[in-house]
Order: sequence, then C-alpha cells, then structure tokens
Amino acid sequence: MKIIVKEAATRRSATTEDDITAEVLRRLEGTPDPRLRQIVLSLVRHLHAFVKEVELTEAEWFQGIQFLTDTGHMCNDIRQEFILLSDTLGVSMVVDLINHRKPEGATESTVFGPFHREGAPEMPAGGNMAFRDKAGTPTIVSGRVLDLQGRPIPGALLDVWQADTTGLYDSQYPDTSELHMRGKYRTDKDGRYLVRTSRPVAYQIPSDGPVGKMLKATNRHAWRPAHIHFVVSADGFEPVTTHIFDSIDKYLVSDAVFAVKDSLICEFARHDTRDGAAARFGLEPPFCTAEFDFVLKPAHGRT
Ligand SMILES: [Fe+2]
Repeated sequence: MKIIVKEAATRRSATTEDDITAEVLRRLEGTPDPRLRQIVLSLVRHLHAFVKEVELTEAEWFQGIQFLTDTGHMCNDIRQEFILLSDTLGVSMVVDLINHRKPEGATESTVFGPFHREGAPEMPAGGNMAFRDKAGTPTIVSGRVLDLQGRPIPGALLDVWQADTTGLYDSQYPDTSELHMRGKYRTDKDGRYLVRTSRPVAYQIPSDGPVGKMLKATNRHAWRPAHIHFVVSADGFEPVTTHIFDSIDKYLVSDAVFAVKDSLICEFARHDTRDGAAARFGLEPPFCTAEFDFVLKPAHGRT
C-alpha cells in the first residue's frame, strides 16, 4: 500500500501537458456509445493539440470563452450566429461535402444558410416571387428536373428563396414579418419549371456581431456572390439543397462562406430588346433569363 501511494504521488508531481491529455482521454475511454466515444476522443485530442501548438495564454483562452459567449448571446429566433460562425470558418461546407457525396451528374449541394423560412407560397409556373422588388431586373429562371438517366421528373417541388435587390432577405426587415422573395414551384409533365424573380445581387452576411469582428480581425470581407437558393425534392429521390450563382459575380472566388461550386455557376443572359424571349415571357426589356437543370439521385435504397 505504501508503495502504491508513493507511485501515485510521483505521477502527480511529473504531470505535463501530455499527461493531462492522456488522462482526459483515459477517462473518456469508457463512453458507452461508440460514435460519441469516437467524437469526444478525437475532439479532445485535436483541442489539446491546438492549445499546445499555439501555446495559448490565459488571456487568449478567456478571450475565446468570451467570443463564444457573445456568439451565443447574438442568437435568437431569426439570427443564428453559430451557423454563421460555422459557415465563415468553412465547417458547414466540409460537413456538406462529407454528407452529400453525389454520383457523377447529380446536382451538387451547398450550404442551406440561415435565411430559409417555412410557409413560402405555392406559385404557378412563371409566378413572380419578387412582386415587391420594383428595383430589380426581372429574371426568368427555367429548366428541368431530371433523374440520373436524364429522364424528366414531373411534379418535383422547388422551394426557392433569395435576397431582394437591396441585398436583404425578408426576415432582415424589422418592420414586417411578411414573406417575400420566396416561392414553391412544381415541374410540369415534362419536368420543366419556370420561376419569375429578380436578378440576384451580391450581399454581405450580417457582420454586426462576433462573426463580423472575426472577419475584420482576419482581414476578410463579408460578401457572398449573387445567388438564388433552391431545395429541389421529388418522391423517390434524395432532395438537394443548393444555390445557383451568377457567373459574372466578382465574389465567386472569395465567397465569405466558401459555398461556390463550379457546377452551380449559371449564366444570367441580359435581354435589352423586345426579342423572342420578351414575347414568350411577356416581359419588357431589360430583363434576364437563366437556364439550369437539376439532376436528382435516387433516394437511399432505390435504384
Ligand atoms: Fe443567400
């Protein structure tokens, strides 16, 4: 007994940073849930390695605690600062890529973002979801929803949302809770859809909170390239959460949330004359047209 006590005392006096890490890992070894065990062991390994690598000072440690506390305080029903933090650190896109590996030809996914709202109105083909956005350039987005073999998917649902021409989502206006710049469209028997909206514009993510401070301190901008959000779904297929991006936007190469994928970049063609498209869509120039086909992979377990 005497020897054991002496050994324990010796181990305590020899405690190093690595001893602490090993002891924390030892205590977590008994986590019953195997997936939770894998996650907490890895988290502690990486977290301790990070602290040791940068030799974190006590002041910096407390600053980190304060930053996370402020991030939590910034969250409410319509503002999710932690998602914004995850997005701006690229974590959301890494999670997206791991979870949505697509077969060749299927439309790639990208971040969901914090601005989706339930309850968007069902729209007829060509219905204008930008009816209050008078400053915007009228834009027709059309195309098909297809399976991996290129066959049309009738009755597919496209849940569409975007910022207005001032770069704000409806939920960012403090004086109204009305839905705007949102619509649900369905494909016809040939798998075709037709959305009327405004040409999307680049906008800045909310930067009046901790994430904004982080962007400023790291010499980064808050801009996202112009895009339209889509969730496309159909019975028997895996839904895809994605955007289409305007091909001429200067922020495509430096999106604040790292969400751009080449396959999602789309040309928004400008029409300045009363051409065939003007007659077909009943639009006065100037207006834009964009075409994009969405390709869905079968739901899990289907072929
Ligand atoms: Fe967005």
